[in-house]
Amino acid sequence: MEKKFKRTLITTALPYANGPVHIGHLAGVYVPADIYARYLRLRGQEVIMVGGSDEHGVPITIKAKAEGVTPQDIVDRYHAIIRDSMQGLGISFDVYSRTTSDIHSETASEFFRRLYDKGEFVEKTSMQLYDEQAGQFLADRYVTGECPHCHAQGAYGDQCEKCGTSLNATDLINPRSAITGNVPVLRETHHWYLPLDRWESRLREWILEGHKEWKVNVYGQCKSWLDLGLQPRAVSRDLDWGVPVPVEGAEGKVLYVWFDAPIGYISNTKELLPDSWERWWKDPESRVINFIGKDNIVFHCIVFPAMLMAYGDNYQLPDNVPANEFLNLEGDKISTSRNWAVWLHEYLRDFPGKQDVLRYVLTANAPETKDNDFTWRDFQARNNSELVAILGNFVNRALVLTQKYYGGEVQPAGELAEADRAVFDELRRLKSEMETALDTFHFREALKLAMDMARTGNRYLQETEPWKLAKTDPARTATVLNVAVQICANLAIAFEPFLPFMSEKLVGMLGGDNISWDMLGCDDLVPAGTRLGQPELLFEKIEDDVIQAQVDRLTRIKEENRLKSWRPAPQQPDVDFDTFCKADLRVATVLDCVKVPKADKLLQFTLDDGTGTPRTIVSGIARYYDPADLIGKQVCFIANLPVRKLRGIESQGMILSAEDRDGRLVVMGPTGAVAPGAQVK
Ligand code: MF3
Ligand code: ZN
Repeated sequence: MEKKFKRTLITTALPYANGPVHIGHLAGVYVPADIYARYLRLRGQEVIMVGGSDEHGVPITIKAKAEGVTPQDIVDRYHAIIRDSMQGLGISFDVYSRTTSDIHSETASEFFRRLYDKGEFVEKTSMQLYDEQAGQFLADRYVTGECPHCHAQGAYGDQCEKCGTSLNATDLINPRSAITGNVPVLRETHHWYLPLDRWESRLREWILEGHKEWKVNVYGQCKSWLDLGLQPRAVSRDLDWGVPVPVEGAEGKVLYVWFDAPIGYISNTKELLPDSWERWWKDPESRVINFIGKDNIVFHCIVFPAMLMAYGDNYQLPDNVPANEFLNLEGDKISTSRNWAVWLHEYLRDFPGKQDVLRYVLTANAPETKDNDFTWRDFQARNNSELVAILGNFVNRALVLTQKYYGGEVQPAGELAEADRAVFDELRRLKSEMETALDTFHFREALKLAMDMARTGNRYLQETEPWKLAKTDPARTATVLNVAVQICANLAIAFEPFLPFMSEKLVGMLGGDNISWDMLGCDDLVPAGTRLGQPELLFEKIEDDVIQAQVDRLTRIKEENRLKSWRPAPQQPDVDFDTFCKADLRVATVLDCVKVPKADKLLQFTLDDGTGTPRTIVSGIARYYDPADLIGKQVCFIANLPVRKLRGIESQGMILSAEDRDGRLVVMGPTGAVAPGAQVK
């Protein structure tokens, strides 16, 4: 039923080099892609995994401007961090390159040129937003405004992050330049457009008829795009950062980042295999799988395939695009600009040697069908009660018992009993279920099945109780512990795609070297007579204080963000002087001040307002003052407001106070003593 392929090219969305990578990137793209690549390699298939940094696009230039450095400085910095941290987590790229490389600009340039020569573009003149002060056009994220669909503020010129709609900058309501804050003007420019409408029927057929097996979230998004009808898309921009448009009369124009970035998959392959790269792209017996996040679906399922079809020359369209949904962090959307993330390079620094714990948690909790949440408590719980208590515990018991009874030497197994054979039957059954799950990109499920293998091991020890048998039946004990060691070897294989560091360590402790998927389910992986290495713990408990430190860090960031996002209230519309004077503002001396019972915000003031009759005012500042401290102070109040009843008390006016950025209220009063009743003007 399945088409047979000779080789698999795995691509991973190129992360923007405007920041390090975080757990959202990992859970969505790199961990699943790596699991799949490792699985196929373990099965002995021909596979390569390519990736690199996406180093063009507006956000990088904005960041450079903000820091007063060049875009190249920015991408050099983050490319190095991203590359090293991915390697640190064991993401097994065959090549990890970057879109500022020469081979990439040549490849992207040639790609554009060929489409241009073939007449695959339409050239159009249009009015675009222009910032006169900055002297530049405002592409994509250089402009923000109100979303024309959901009316959220702060939508970008290429996309509204609230409702996910992709936009043209000129669609925004009340656009503002992100460089100067100015209102942009319209100015004429010309660009090249890829007429997606020309490819619409072929795309429909290829996806809607030909790829019903794609994940429902991917298929569904494609269908709704196609049903809306496709429009021509501009593939160039007026910018000075990117791959120059390689035709005459295109000075000051570069390829749109979403045009050049996916071509990066091709240039990465070329960089890895200069002589044989074409085989991976153009041979119908090769298949391409794109691992991406859900915000990238349209580019990988519609735009890039249209580019490949327009190019021709046998380029294969992706066979599958297993896009994931988003991972949130402690209930909030992950955000690079708000520093709301767990950064991979920081994780590797804070949790040395615990790469597999993160890989495990991100897979067990992967946002495969819906958005999911990462919490530090869940991270701790999964480590302590799954990795330590189930997997680590089983392996440790098997190895320590072998050490204790046989000095670490694997004993020959006698004839296998029913219970022993049942264990291997169970492992083989789980193996075949794992294959189904892995082949269809259900990695959470596959990991759960691998964990079931470890559970099987624990159950086996629980039932056979070799620590008791040792006293009564030495022959049976030898067999049982042989079986237990064989289960350990099986676990090293089953978990390799998920927990490669653990697997390598375990294989080492079992005295093995190479493993393959075929071996999984066998009862003779570790030969009798093998001397096992010293049993070491595979996982260790993570204590509360370690987790608390991470939670505290996030609390601090949240607080910083709140303060940063504070803006003075916008200026009020003009008011004429006479209108202003209608507010009767005066000074009073506080005669008495008490808390209003059962109201945690309210204080009741008794004021001398100069009239001879005490005035009562209720004010919502109880959280910020001890009432006794206010007695004798002078305050400003407004005297001619209608009387208001608060908690049964008639309040005759309002005391003026200023609100600080954290919401704290500070009472206003004169800086020197004045007679009560004095007018404020
Ligand atoms: N940089 C893009 C993002 O982070 C992904 C680019 S994927 C590629 O959303 F196909 F263009 F390479
Ligand atoms: Zn919107």
